[in-house]
Amino acid sequence: MKHKRELVFVCSGSDCKKAGSKQLKKGLKKELSDGPWKGCCKLISTKCMDMCKSSPLAIVDNHFIKKADQSKVTLAIKKALDKQGS
Ligand code: FES
Repeated sequence: MKHKRELVFVCSGSDCKKAGSKQLKKGLKKELSDGPWKGCCKLISTKCMDMCKSSPLAIVDNHFIKKADQSKVTLAIKKALDKQGS
């Protein structure tokens, strides 16, 4: 069986930091390192992706998540992992 793994990119540029990407990453790290998603996701910090107006910005499964918060990102991860499973 193929191991499910999702890459989660979170921008760490200055505008996204101001908009709360640091807290977002902290929250996601906690959520992803424990429970049913342990080992299923890799959290990656990126430089500015030139979409600062939509900060904080995250990418899950090739989709931009604008004005990201933890619930939006976890929902996207759940969808992506479900898709991989089917
Ligand atoms: S700082 Fe995040 S997109 Fe520019």
